[in-house]
Amino acid sequence: MNTTILITGGAGFIGSNFVNWWASQHPDSRIVVLDALTYAGNLANLAGVWQSPRFRFYPGRIEDPTVVEGIFRCERITHVVNFAAESHNDRSLLDPTGLIAANVAGVSVLLRSAAAHGVERFVHVSTDEVYGHIRDGLFSETDPLQPRTFYSAGKAGGEMQVRAHFITSGLPVMVTRGSNTFGPYQFPEKIMPFFITRALDHRPLPLYGDGSQVRDWLYVEDHCEGIATVLERGVPGEAYNLGGGNELTNASLTKRILRLLDRSDDLIRNIPDPRGASHDARYALDCRKAAGLGWRPRQDFDAALATTVRWYVEHQDWWRPIVASEPFQAYVRRFYGPALGSEL
Ligand code: DAU
Repeated sequence: MNTTILITGGAGFIGSNFVNWWASQHPDSRIVVLDALTYAGNLANLAGVWQSPRFRFYPGRIEDPTVVEGIFRCERITHVVNFAAESHNDRSLLDPTGLIAANVAGVSVLLRSAAAHGVERFVHVSTDEVYGHIRDGLFSETDPLQPRTFYSAGKAGGEMQVRAHFITSGLPVMVTRGSNTFGPYQFPEKIMPFFITRALDHRPLPLYGDGSQVRDWLYVEDHCEGIATVLERGVPGEAYNLGGGNELTNASLTKRILRLLDRSDDLIRNIPDPRGASHDARYALDCRKAAGLGWRPRQDFDAALATTVRWYVEHQDWWRPIVASEPFQAYVRRFYGPALGSEL
């Protein structure tokens, strides 16, 4: 494919995995990354492509029209994948408003420039959380968007921008709605890396409530392949569910992590649920539409979980500076301090 792909949020977790995966799959493609390098962006994630003559990095925000328009004018972008977002539900409880800049306004800025410059294909990466939660059964793409958290309401707002720009300009844009993703380079605020890194240090694991909430886990490489499939073969204006088909309660996930690390369940602390009424009980997706494009998750969950745990064991040089940093410690104190106290 002779392309120049703009990958926004490419220094974050799924974004950087996608950059590295795309570089390996499309040796002729030029890759342009735009990333705001907020707390969750990390240039170390891009070490594998940084020296490549076909890679270029721009620091900046998708909600900044000067930066975005400048990139489109200079780089002859043919394809876009938008990963840039504030992505953490717990942080959105502390600041419900800040995320709107990237998750809603930024999407509009990006779509506008992409349409003005005749981009061939655009994928906006969204989330299964836009549907709200579901006790039984599966969400399909025609279900209404009924988000229940500040974060997911912001992502739903981004999807509405996609819809309006598609209708207005005809930009060939698709949406993906992925389930809980895991793998290397995930910022250690999310449950899986947070618990792995804490368990390695024999620190207590704050499990919200009784840990009965269910998440559907998707390995990051499978998620990247799903996004690429939709980029290449998706129908403009359509949304595609990308789920892993691996439903687990948080309690069961936590115990599996502890077992893999040879740690005792005694590390678990069932704390009062900081998400309260907004804590979604279960997400689950019907992925037949993406299967119709030829995508299906390929990784076995237990093997992928073991690989992920091993990655954090072997890459302590990556996560220890993050976890020890004052901003991360301040976040942990603020969010978990009231429940964990001296066990922080
Ligand atoms: O479903 C896709 C979404 O998955 C993405 O759109 C989000 O960006 C991503 O953050 C993730 O959202 P969750 O809120 O499900 O992920 P998180 O890792 O924060 O929490 C997963 C579950 O674990 C959730 O039920 C809350 C629980 N949890 C989380 C943390 C951080 C705990 O019990 N203790 C914790 O310390």
